[in-house]
This record gives sequence, C-alpha cells and structure tokens, in this order.
Amino acid sequence: MPEDEYSPMTPSQVRQLRDELDSQGKKLVFTNGCFDLLHAGHVRYLNEARALGDAMVVALNSDESVRELKGPSRPINPEHDRAEVMAALRAVDAVVVFGDKRATGLIETIRPHIYAKGGDYTVESLNAEERAALDEAGASIRILPLVPGRSTTKTIQRMNTDGAGDRLRIGVLGSGEGSNFRAILAAIAAGSLQADVCVAISDQADSRFLKTAREAGIPAIHVDGGPNPRRYNDAAQKEIAEHLQRAQVDVVVLIGFMRILKEPTLSLYADRIVNVHPSLLPKYKGANAPQMAIEAGDTETGCTVHLVTAEIDAGRILAKAAVPVLPGDTPETLHGRIKEQEHKLLPGVLAQWKK
Ligand code: GAR
Repeated sequence: MPEDEYSPMTPSQVRQLRDELDSQGKKLVFTNGCFDLLHAGHVRYLNEARALGDAMVVALNSDESVRELKGPSRPINPEHDRAEVMAALRAVDAVVVFGDKRATGLIETIRPHIYAKGGDYTVESLNAEERAALDEAGASIRILPLVPGRSTTKTIQRMNTDGAGDRLRIGVLGSGEGSNFRAILAAIAAGSLQADVCVAISDQADSRFLKTAREAGIPAIHVDGGPNPRRYNDAAQKEIAEHLQRAQVDVVVLIGFMRILKEPTLSLYADRIVNVHPSLLPKYKGANAPQMAIEAGDTETGCTVHLVTAEIDAGRILAKAAVPVLPGDTPETLHGRIKEQEHKLLPGVLAQWKK
C-alpha cells in the first residue's frame, strides 16, 4: 500500500465507533502512549488491554508531545509511521494521534468505556485532569502490569553503537538458581560492567537460571543433556558450541553449571571460559564443596573464579574471596554466605576482562 493511503482516525470517528459499540452493549477500550519502537512488551500489554473490551483505540502522542515528554532525541519513528504500525496490530481497532501531553480532551470526546494504562501507575497516581475526565465519562480504569525486561529506552541503549564494539559479549551456562547470573545483570545495569549477556544456556528447562534470561529478554536455550546429570553427549557438546558461536560471545561463564563441558567448546574458547566455584581452590573440587569444608572442620572457606580446562576445577585461578565458617553452619547457610562473595567476585573479574 502506498505510504499516504493510511491515515489515523479522527477523534469524532472514534466517538462514532464507541457509540455503535455502545448501542450493541459492547465496550470500547482506550489506551494512550508514545509507542515509539514497538517491542514485545507493548504487544503483550496491548493484547491484555484489548481483552478487557470488544474493540480498542490507541491514542498516540504526536511527535511534538513525545519530545516534550521524553526529550529532544525522541521519537525515533515519526507519528505517521507509528500510527500505521500500531494500526496493523491484531489488538488495535483504531488509532488517533493527539498533540497534548495529556489525553484529557480526547477522553472527553471519545468517552471510552474502559481506560487501560500500563506500568507503575495506580488509579490514584493518574493525572488528575485525565482522571476527572474518565470519571465524568463513567469509564472504568484498569492498570496493567509492565512486562519486565522490555522497554524502548533499553532497546535504544542496546542499539546505540557508541562504544558497543568495546562491550564484552558474554555467554552464560547454568543449571540452578541463577543468582550469579542476576549479579552479572545487576553489574551491567549499574554500569560497573561494560558487557552484554548475549545467550544463556542450561541443561535444566525449568531452572530459575533460564527464567532469569527470559525475564531479561536474553535468548534462553535449553540443551537437553540426557539422564546423567553430570555429562553431556557429543551432540549436546556440539550444540552448545554452536549457540555460543552464533551469539558471537567473547567469554563463556559457567555459573553453577553441573555438567562437564568438553570439546569443541574447550578449544574454541581456550582461556576464555571461566567458572565460579564455592571453595578456595585447589581445596574441595567438584560438587558439595561447602559441605566438605564443614566436614573438614575448616574455619574458613570461600569462592574461586578460575579458567576452565579439561581437568575439573583445575584451570588458572583468576580471583578468590574468603568467607568464615561459623559454628552451627549447615551446607546451605555456608553456601549462602559464599554466594554473597561470588556475586561481587565474578562481575569484578569480568569487568577487568580484556577482549
Ligand atoms: C554457585 O555457588 C557456584 O559457585 C556453584 O553453584 C552455585 C550456583 O549458584 N558452582 C559449583 O558448585 C560448580 N562446581 P547460582 O545458580 O545461584 O548462581
């Protein structure tokens, strides 16, 4: 279709739509926003909002009002394009573009049955003018939760190529809780680690580790490992290497990854695979290291970040942190204390990594 064939609706056309629906006992949902660079978070939100009624109009902020709300570098896409893309979504029946910072005038004209808003708002924190117009129109107000990990601002940050070539591309492998993974993501978000986690791979389909990746919008890949919880067959070993290469990672990080990593990854990423281990290596290699420290009667243990080689927990040590073993410690309490140190040690090692 030629570009100029699409045009958004006028507010009075939407009012007609609302009146038609009303006469059939049906409900019009209204929502508004900038909707620059559409992402999956928008689509999910819009689907949920549409499900509240029988048709939905989206009021898009005009370019000028987006600039007022978000600053001079926004929007990325001009209003006509944003309206055309928005109108093509399954959840959207009509689009209007409005120039004010607030949607008050539109609400007064359209008188929607349901007003949906996403995010951190509460009914009380809505703009007072908009709230009054909604009350006057008898609209019911529905606040829908934000979809975590998806935002236009984040997308723009990721796309911003200034310095992106210097950022470390990390691939993570894990089997369990993923607390170290979240510590890495927190360090990236805080700006203390200039990196991106580009892929997360696990042998456990339902692990918190993979859930963490999904929530952060990171490709989350389950590689089935078969019945032996410590081993991967050759096909699975190859699959892992392919995923890492496809994601173009600079460094591979094993965090609580309980299967033994072998070729071809070991050679492809020689000296570029790190593991975090809950003991002061070379003491207590393998599984259950916190329990071994307790059983040995040690008063101190800790964690180690080291390079991964074919020999288990034996590669070059990059950093260690000590932790006291306290009277009455169980393997769980001690491991919890060790993890607190791991959460600082591992992002710290990665922050120093030279590409
Ligand atoms: C970490 O404590 C790590 O040191 C350990 O698994 C835990 C994973 O926790 N790794 C090993 O024991 C490897 N032999 P997390 O999933 O919460 O990051």
